[in-house]
Amino acid sequence: MSQNRKSEELYKQACEVLPGGISRNIIYRKPFPNYAASASGCYISDIDGTKRIDFANNMAALIHGHAHPEVVEAVIQQVQKGTAFTLASEIEVRYAQLLTSRVKDFEKIRFVNSGTEAVMTMIKASRAFTGRPKIAKAEGTYHGTYDFAEVSQTASPANWGDINEPKSVPVAYGTPQGVLDDVVIFPYNDIERTIAILDRHAEQIACVIIDPVPHRVGLLQGTNEFILAIYNWTRKNGALLVFDEVVTFRVNYGGAQENYPVTPDITALGKMIGGGFPVGAIAGRTDVLKVLDLRQPDLKFPHSGTFSANPVTMTAGFKTMELIDRNAILKLNILTDTAISQIQEVIRQLDVPVSITGAGSMFRFHLMPVPPTTYREAYQTIEVRTLINELFDYLYFNENILMINTLTCMFSTAMTQKEIDKLTEGLFRAFKALKPKLEELQKK
Ligand SMILES: Cc1ncc(COP(=O)(O)O)c(C=O)c1O
Repeated sequence: MSQNRKSEELYKQACEVLPGGISRNIIYRKPFPNYAASASGCYISDIDGTKRIDFANNMAALIHGHAHPEVVEAVIQQVQKGTAFTLASEIEVRYAQLLTSRVKDFEKIRFVNSGTEAVMTMIKASRAFTGRPKIAKAEGTYHGTYDFAEVSQTASPANWGDINEPKSVPVAYGTPQGVLDDVVIFPYNDIERTIAILDRHAEQIACVIIDPVPHRVGLLQGTNEFILAIYNWTRKNGALLVFDEVVTFRVNYGGAQENYPVTPDITALGKMIGGGFPVGAIAGRTDVLKVLDLRQPDLKFPHSGTFSANPVTMTAGFKTMELIDRNAILKLNILTDTAISQIQEVIRQLDVPVSITGAGSMFRFHLMPVPPTTYREAYQTIEVRTLINELFDYLYFNENILMINTLTCMFSTAMTQKEIDKLTEGLFRAFKALKPKLEELQKK
């Protein structure tokens, strides 16, 4: 570890002042995390001098990679004019116009500061609109850390219960029983079971939350039939269909929702729309979002946030989204498809039991020959998790490739065929080196 001496030393100091030495669990790796020094485009350098290709892009938040010159220039100009005011700013209106013109069904939009806050605001708006207490969400989905939104995100064989009625499993110790009672859990993409479960709570459900390509479920795409069935159920039962597109907005020009024959009533956004800065937003039907309109005599959902729509985030987001037009999304998705084809070829050549799921500019590896179709199938045992970590470390240390620690790649427009070839070659060596272990895993 001597080549990571500076990171090792800094982590020791970090442990004195930060719980576990970190501020977000995702960046932790044993025995200590590396510390970033700088990043540009699709490359990131750490304080020990190693430069890596960045396929994580801050957990899908950086659609143009790091420090895009036009975004940087716009942000510098805004910072010099002030970073946050107790006044509205013009850029917030301009950015709202840009995003609402991008998606026909985004009639109104409200900005917040994170994906977690966006999902929380979406849930509270749904409750305020319908006057109902419960929400329904899929087992295993990650929607941020709001109490209600995180239920069953980490459900495991030890606690998930019968698939016909999955249990509401707390993530954090101390989660009140009342929270669990108000979250209805269903199995993603399983129409029959889901409708039966929803029916049992029909009059109490404010909204059904769908992530169209949920990363933690396995980066599986919601099927047309499933989304349509849920949409129809919500129409019949007076509930809202709400989408979490915090990650998946990158999938098409108008988000992953463009792939479906129905539109959600509200959509939560985040990550890439902040252009590298903290952000969240909810967008959707005017009549629903009226619950936030303080001009109403019976304001149903008073809502505020000190840094919401701050001009730095709005400026970075505006520039970023202007640059990621329909053509840029198409190009990025084609590049990602090329990468997947090259990697599929590697998997075939080496004959390793590995499969790939994903959509648009994102994909994830699974250590099984056929891709999983459900959360419970995709669930990683300790043995799987250990081998995934080994693969991650091989790529990270031997190939200078950074992925998300589930072995997921989120592409950026800064990438070219050169980086894809490096990824393919790196994966070839990694899969080859670990082939005996990959095969052994299948026998367990
Ligand atoms: C689908 C989804 N929703 C919500 C969130 C929460 O976003 P944030 O980390 O900005 O709070 C995330 C974060 O990874 C996410 O992946």
